[in-house]
Amino acid sequence: MRSWTRIFRGKSALVTGGLGFIGSNLARTLLGAGAKVTVVDSLQPEYGGRRRNLAGLSGRLAVHIADIRDGRRMAGLVKGKDYVFNLAGQTSHWDSMEDPMTDLDINCRAQLSLLEACRRHNPEVRIVFASTRQIYGKPERLPVREGHPLRPVDVNGINKLAGESFHLLYARVHGMRASALRLTNTIGPRMRVKDGRQTFVGVWIRCLVEGRPFEVWGGDQRRDFTYVDDAVEAFLLAASRPEADGQVFNLGGPPPVSLIELAEVLVEANHGGSFVIKAYPADRKKIDIGDYYADFSLISSRLGWRPRTDLRTAVSRTLAYYRRELPHYL
Ligand SMILES: NC(=O)c1ccc[n+]([C@@H]2O[C@H](COP(=O)([O-])OP(=O)(O)OC[C@H]3O[C@@H](n4cnc5c(N)ncnc54)[C@H](O)[C@@H]3O)[C@@H](O)[C@H]2O)c1
Repeated sequence: MRSWTRIFRGKSALVTGGLGFIGSNLARTLLGAGAKVTVVDSLQPEYGGRRRNLAGLSGRLAVHIADIRDGRRMAGLVKGKDYVFNLAGQTSHWDSMEDPMTDLDINCRAQLSLLEACRRHNPEVRIVFASTRQIYGKPERLPVREGHPLRPVDVNGINKLAGESFHLLYARVHGMRASALRLTNTIGPRMRVKDGRQTFVGVWIRCLVEGRPFEVWGGDQRRDFTYVDDAVEAFLLAASRPEADGQVFNLGGPPPVSLIELAEVLVEANHGGSFVIKAYPADRKKIDIGDYYADFSLISSRLGWRPRTDLRTAVSRTLAYYRRELPHYL
């Protein structure tokens, strides 16, 4: 039994973005650990939330279809909770450049308003924020450590950096128990596959399951991938350990791979399929971060977290899920 399992029994947890990819996997694990789970999600169609992600659980958890930008509603939802797992967000880098004000409202302003709601109505609550490797921008050094300069290359990165900074500020100044995890590419069941707004890997998986070739843009870029169960464990460890309060931690994945290597692993795990290599589109290149992989030794040494799932297993499980479930995700 994992160290955090008993800690959540009977405790009440709010998961923002809980109908999304990582939030729904987290909500399921919390339920399994005996927590009383509430999720809040706006379910706007352009984002990654789906009722299907929590299918089969009706009656076992409370689902609120609401927007985290609605401060009054959020004040009511944070009251009485032991934990807030704060994952609601606009995730598309491209959309953040096309519609920067919406990204600002959700990833920056609403984060501050959620923290204010906690400070006023539930200052003892423990909060874990889903930050992102995007805030580093183009890495100067690899692997990237938490002390690396923060120079986001897009509006989403800037707003997520603000969201993370507010959480750490509220920990430092108001003594609140908030921490942040800088996630890297996360993959697994319930990830978005209908388009590339969350990650290109979702599109690749959809093409494989549909028996179509997929496109690899560039191909030499090296990246790391975290399996969703491992990411969920990091959230639970951060929430359950006081030494995480006020801290920020990188997550990472098993050895970094080039995108061509990843494509080959996917085709092999699928027992078939093909891909074509294309030049990286010039307009998107401007906000591409190139090679990225994290040094996650800080969370390993402080909280004992390490990714347990190798890439081949991660992609095999994800493919198996979408062979059954794809029609529900298009
Ligand atoms: N998936 C990754 O690889 C990755 C990498 C880095 C960081 N993250 C962060 O992790 C978090 C979860 O990402 P995900 O991959 O599960 O994405 P997702 O899109 O599947 O989940 C986000 C959820 O937030 C909800 N949401 C968006 N705006 C909202 C609002 N205003 N009010 C209420 N709900 C709202 C969406 O409906 C969606 O269900 C995000 O904050 C994201 O920035 C994810």
